[in-house]
Amino acid sequence: MTDLTAFAHGLPKAELHLHLEGTLEPDLKFALAERNGIELAEKTVDEVKATYDFTDLTSFLAVYYPAMRVLVTADDFHDLAWAYLQKAAAQGVVHVEMFFDPQAHTGRGVPFADVIGGYRRAVVRAERELGISAELIMCFLRDYSAEFAFATLMEALPYKQWILGIGLDSDERGNPPEKFAEVFARARAEGFLLTMHCDIDQPGSIDNIRTVLDEIQVDRIDHGTNIVEDPALVALAIERGLGFTTCPVSNSFVTEQMKADEIVGLLRQGAKVTLNSDDPAYFGAYVGDTYIALAEQAELTETDLVQFAINSFEASWLTPARRAAYLAAVADYAARHGVAMPAA
Ligand code: HPA
Ligand code: ZN
Repeated sequence: MTDLTAFAHGLPKAELHLHLEGTLEPDLKFALAERNGIELAEKTVDEVKATYDFTDLTSFLAVYYPAMRVLVTADDFHDLAWAYLQKAAAQGVVHVEMFFDPQAHTGRGVPFADVIGGYRRAVVRAERELGISAELIMCFLRDYSAEFAFATLMEALPYKQWILGIGLDSDERGNPPEKFAEVFARARAEGFLLTMHCDIDQPGSIDNIRTVLDEIQVDRIDHGTNIVEDPALVALAIERGLGFTTCPVSNSFVTEQMKADEIVGLLRQGAKVTLNSDDPAYFGAYVGDTYIALAEQAELTETDLVQFAINSFEASWLTPARRAAYLAAVADYAARHGVAMPAA
């Protein structure tokens, strides 16, 4: 392990762009298939990994959603989240706001209560056994109808106290943010914080980013680095202190590159850019690995990584007191390692 690797893994950080369904490692997939009596086409980990041949978001999603059929019972959802939380803790994660996709499960007959009940058990256990604060963000699948999203929001209301915010994921092509303007307005009125995916290099990326900022008025933006195409929008995002949850390793699977220039360029301008793993089981990197991958690609210093960790708490939806405590832990970690803090 180089010093940078140890430093990056130990650095206290929040993860803000993590799909729980994207943490399904092949080993757990086999175990759940066996437990639920489900026949899988692939028989070995290598055979599963051979299907991870993505060229863009659509081809990734075509592998991603069918894999979820092994998730059936509340225990399955608990086991999935618990496996992720243990790995995250080992890479310095002390706070995580995790996406889940209920429609990918209710759409095939799994009760909403089992999905959220299983995930919630892992959240409570993480706090108690790992000292991680964990929260859930419920995402709508944007390639389904606005009506289905609305029905899902209604189904979630009895569990409101377990859900911190609402997000939007899946295939952006042909499914712009305004399709969900009404349901997001209702979610806001119900008291949820809001975020939306603005995926990399989509047709109309910059228009979608503008809509998300001006009309939907999200509290954060997932990916969103195509904002560099419009410097006035970048200035607006910086003025608002808007958080960006970027995912460089994920970018390198669904586009030609990590988009390191865009990510680091935004960082240097003072945007609240954060680093995240997205779907670590599919892209082979958890969040600490992601810090290292970008550091190597863009020749970042330890101080840059500290800035990303600071941003992760500043862009989080923690209460002010908890945020301040985690920021103090970052400063303490940097001091103990003799690493300079970024200029304020
Ligand atoms: N974008 C859209 N949908 C997704 C993603 C993503 O990054 N990850 C999992 N579902
Ligand atoms: Zn994502």
